[in-house]
Amino acid sequence: MAAYPMHPKGSDGAVAVGTRTSSAERVPLPARSGQVVGLAELFERAHIAADLRAVEELLLSRTASSSELIAGASAYTIRAGGKRLRAALALLAARLGAYHLPRVIHAAAAVELIQAASLVHDDLVDQAARRRGRVTVHARWDNDVALMVGDFFFALAAGEMARSPDPRIITYYAEAVQTIVEGELSPVLVAEPAETALGQYYYKTGAKTASLFEAACKAGMAAGGGSEAQIAALGRYGFDLGMAFQIVDDVLDFVGDEQTLGKPAGNDLRQGTITLPLIYAMSRSESLQLREIVEHTSPSDSAVRAAVDEVIAVGGVEATMVEARRFISQAISHLAEFSPSPAQRALVEIAHFVVSRDA
Ligand code: FPP
Ligand code: MG
Repeated sequence: MAAYPMHPKGSDGAVAVGTRTSSAERVPLPARSGQVVGLAELFERAHIAADLRAVEELLLSRTASSSELIAGASAYTIRAGGKRLRAALALLAARLGAYHLPRVIHAAAAVELIQAASLVHDDLVDQAARRRGRVTVHARWDNDVALMVGDFFFALAAGEMARSPDPRIITYYAEAVQTIVEGELSPVLVAEPAETALGQYYYKTGAKTASLFEAACKAGMAAGGGSEAQIAALGRYGFDLGMAFQIVDDVLDFVGDEQTLGKPAGNDLRQGTITLPLIYAMSRSESLQLREIVEHTSPSDSAVRAAVDEVIAVGGVEATMVEARRFISQAISHLAEFSPSPAQRALVEIAHFVVSRDA
């Protein structure tokens, strides 16, 4: 398993240096180039679209329960879907080796069930009203139902792991879940000094997001009969991809469109969640406004809006995107281990997609 650094490192241990930019232009995300394709097209090209639909059917079939409440709330959650990126990573990883859907489908379903469990529980802990624009389970039903649905998903994930062909798959996911839980209880407590804030941010990001990307890649590679060296290389790809994915998520919280994201811009600032754009912005600006918002327990909408604008204006978002792209280059470098194939190309394209997405 990758180490979860207390410093801004990637899987290769290189220390990140935030790039200072002088532009105050609001051009935070790279423009979509003709070469960056959407996920649906990418999955078609890599011949995993039909198999992802099979994963989806499997997930829905597993929501059957003697409890109407559990069946209803878990089907509601699975139907809310998501990009199924983690399942796709497991399938593509297996495609790098000897691909046989029955050998990898359970590992692909397991990672989505772990993800669903963690989000239902996370929304409960955060008392979030909506996720992806839909009312959360605890808000639509109640806290007890959300707790049980998360546990139900977690038990389903264990079942999928048990049906997987290689016992190492259980280990990869078990390690990731342990790490996710530890990360959930390790908030970023300070926005400065930058060195401390960055250490806390990178630890949390590695734990809460990158660890599961890493596990999905390793599980898929193991299901495809990969060697230990190949499993390790793909795990490093997954870890760095996951870091970039979460960093972009944190950028979208500043620049994303409310309709597309299903939550208003500045949500993290409003909730006192310290992320990379804010840390970089504070390292470049003496602004009292930013310092106040970190201290404030319930800032007004106008204070949040002003702080979002300031973070963008001082280059916090741009510097963060530089960092996301650094992780993406690093992720792609781990794919050199594998010969060119549609699956290998898809993994490269997914990496480009992650830093060009807008939702
Ligand atoms: C989302 O982060 C949170 C997670 C990905 C992990 C949550 C983990 C737990 C609640 C521990 C339980 C784990 C399992 C596997 C049952 P966020 O709140 O920063 O992001 P958000 O904006 O998407 O809510
Ligand atoms: Mg949350």
